[in-house]
Amino acid sequence: MWLHCIECGHALPPFDDVVFTCPECDGLLEARYADYPTFDDFSGEGVWRYAAALPFDEGVSLPEGNTPLHEVPRLEADIGVRNLRVKHEGMNPTGSFKDRGMTVGVRVAEELGVDRLACASTGNTSAALAAYGARADLETLVLLPAGKVAAGKIAQASLHGARILEVDGNFDACLDRVQDLAARGEAYLLNSLNPFRLEGQKTIGLEILERFRDEEGRFPDRIVLPVGNAGNTAALYKCFRELVHAGALAPGDVPKLTGVQAEGAAPMVEAVREGNAETRRWDEVETIATAIRIGNPVNAPKALPGIRETGGTAVAVSDEEITAAQRDLAGEGVGVEPASAASVAGLRKLVAEGEVSTGEDVVCLTTGHLLKDPDAAAAAGRDPEDVPNDTDAILDHLAGKDVGGGLFGRLRGLL
Ligand code: F0G
Repeated sequence: MWLHCIECGHALPPFDDVVFTCPECDGLLEARYADYPTFDDFSGEGVWRYAAALPFDEGVSLPEGNTPLHEVPRLEADIGVRNLRVKHEGMNPTGSFKDRGMTVGVRVAEELGVDRLACASTGNTSAALAAYGARADLETLVLLPAGKVAAGKIAQASLHGARILEVDGNFDACLDRVQDLAARGEAYLLNSLNPFRLEGQKTIGLEILERFRDEEGRFPDRIVLPVGNAGNTAALYKCFRELVHAGALAPGDVPKLTGVQAEGAAPMVEAVREGNAETRRWDEVETIATAIRIGNPVNAPKALPGIRETGGTAVAVSDEEITAAQRDLAGEGVGVEPASAASVAGLRKLVAEGEVSTGEDVVCLTTGHLLKDPDAAAAAGRDPEDVPNDTDAILDHLAGKDVGGGLFGRLRGLL
């Protein structure tokens, strides 16, 4: 395999030097292979089942991948598409899809012989890097936007032993800083700018296609996913192109890639809707879905063609719509963090607006687990009720008699 610049076509060997972007033009790099596998070439489970599509046969593994493709019959009927499945990436070892990229990325770091790993993160990347770095016994540094990372994610990065640097700035500023550190040779960058991360994340697409076909006898029409840096969008598009190249997927069967962003952080949606070739950097971004609170999606040059050429689209949703979708998923037993629920919120909106047909088979990607952001979950969920330590009083309370919490509870209810 080799690295290929998507801007100028420059090709370079993968492991001679540590590079993140094209040494000629600074364009994004992607992994290229002499041969591309078909579904018959895969065996085993999880990310490394797909070794024939990856740069190595194995890597530092916890293990990752093999996540459920849930049926959600009530939500399916409510939104009104022919078939709705939820690919729950929150079921990975550290609770997000990032583990798929890290198992490959950390393997590459070992190959290169680097001694310090680093990333900027809205939280999940830092949790995954900290865990895989610990497993590989490598020093790990994470740069986080101060005050904007959900509690579960910081707890993970902390306990797995990463050095956590809280930057006075948003995610995009953190990524600028970590790119500088990488350029000065101070750290190996494991953000999705690193092309090997996306190789691991391709396996989301491979799992969806294989399972959906096994269960339904066809491939899904559309994959809806939350978009931050647009790494997954780029990775899924690459997955489809490679399968088409290998003759394993007919061009007409490629699922439409449909990206969802929060209204307060929607540069990709803006570019898709306005037909722009590039995204504009949003300096001010805000959303309850802190995982996708990103104003400068670095993988846009790879992801915009993916959305366009598969016939997909992009849509922005409000924080209220995200929270409603988080409750809807939770009501079917699927616990996700706010950014993940954006996919379902976006699908609901596109169906309501007639942009997505009710005859479609759709897979929504839910990227992170509910426990990643316990504060958002508790705020979206039911409030606990105070009851006395007395069974009869508890039964009265459940029967609706006003004893719950006593005078204090009643007073609180009034306030
Ligand atoms: N969903 C979750 C839960 C995420 O953590 C992220 C990105 C995304 C969606 C967006 O994915 O970047 O491939 O478009 N989180 C990164 C992080 C930025 O630092 O954890 P994308």
